[in-house]
Amino acid sequence: MGTKTALITGANSGLGLATAKALAQRSFDLILLCRTEQKGRAAQAEVQKANPAVTVNFFTADLADLDSVRRAAGLINTQSPKLDVLINNAGYTPARLEFVNDIEKSFYASHIGHFVLTHLLLDLLKRAGADANGPARVISLSSGAYLGGRTSRFFRRIDDLSLTFAYCDDKLANLLFARELARRTAGQGVVSYSVHPGAVRTGWGTDTPGIIGSVLSLARPFMRTPEKGAQTSVFLASAPLKSIGERNNGGYFSDSVPKNTYNPDITDEKAAWLWEKTLPFV
Ligand SMILES: NC(=O)c1ccc[n+]([C@@H]2O[C@H](COP(=O)([O-])OP(=O)(O)OC[C@H]3O[C@@H](n4cnc5c(N)ncnc54)[C@H](OP(=O)(O)O)[C@@H]3O)[C@@H](O)[C@H]2O)c1
Repeated sequence: MGTKTALITGANSGLGLATAKALAQRSFDLILLCRTEQKGRAAQAEVQKANPAVTVNFFTADLADLDSVRRAAGLINTQSPKLDVLINNAGYTPARLEFVNDIEKSFYASHIGHFVLTHLLLDLLKRAGADANGPARVISLSSGAYLGGRTSRFFRRIDDLSLTFAYCDDKLANLLFARELARRTAGQGVVSYSVHPGAVRTGWGTDTPGIIGSVLSLARPFMRTPEKGAQTSVFLASAPLKSIGERNNGGYFSDSVPKNTYNPDITDEKAAWLWEKTLPFV
C-alpha cells in the first residue's frame, strides 16, 4: 500500500500510462480511469509491474458520456477514503468533426467530462488536503496548442470548424479550468495546475488527417518519449509544494517550471465565465 493516492484519466497509453508507472515507482497507490474494461485491466497489470507493493485499481468511463463519468465517480467515492492527486490527462486531436448535444466531441470529453469528474471528486480531494500531506493536487493536461484557442467558439456548433482549432479550443479550456479551479478552491486544501508536456511520441495525433497529420508523422522520431513527457505531471504530483512555488497555484507549467501564457482569452473573467457555463453539466 502506498502513502498517497493518484487518479489518472486516459491511463492506458502514452503520457497517462507513463505517469502512472512513474508515480507507482514513487509509492503512490493508483486509480486508473480508462475507456474500456479490457484497456483498464491491461494498464492495471503494467502499472502493477512497475511497483508490486502499491495498490492499483481501475474504473471505466468515457469522458464524452457524462452518465458513465457519474457512475465511475460514484464508485470511486464509495471505495476510496481520499484522493491526493487527480490528473486530468485524457485528450485527443479529433480525426473528424463529431458533436455531442451540439458541442464538439473532443471539447465535451476533454473539458466537460473532466470538469464533471473533478467536481464529483472534490470532497475526496479536500479530505486528502486536510491531512498532513498538504493540499491535494489537480493537474490538467493542456498543450502549447492553447495559443490557437478562442473562447468565442466554446459551446457553439460550428459545422466547418477546423480540427486543429477544435483541439486548440480543448487545450485552452483545460488551461482556463486549471486556473479557475485554483481560484475557487484557494484555502480549501486543493491546488491546481495545467501542463504542456512537450511534443511526445504517443498515440496522440496518429489519427490527425491532412497536412498537420503528415507533419506529425514526419516529426514523430524526434519527439520526446512518454517517460520524458510525463516528467512535468510527475513533478507537480509529487514534488514538495515549496519547489513548485506556493504562488504558482493555477499556473501553466512546462519542463517542470511555470511559463507565461500568451492568449488574449486567458483572463480571470473568461475563466470564471467558462466555469459558470460548464457548471450545469455537473
Ligand atoms: N503527445 C503530445 O505531444 C502532447 C502534446 C501536448 C499535450 N498532450 C496532451 O496529453 C494528454 C495525453 O495524450 P497522449 O499524448 O498520451 O495521447 P494518447 O496516447 O493518445 O492517450 C490519450 C488517452 O486519452 C484517452 N481518451 C481519449 N478520449 C477519451 C474519452 N472520451 N474518454 C476516456 N478516455 C479518453 C485515450 O483512451 P483510448 O485508448 O480509449 O482512446 C488514451 O488513454 C492529452 O490531453 C493531450 O492533449 C499531448
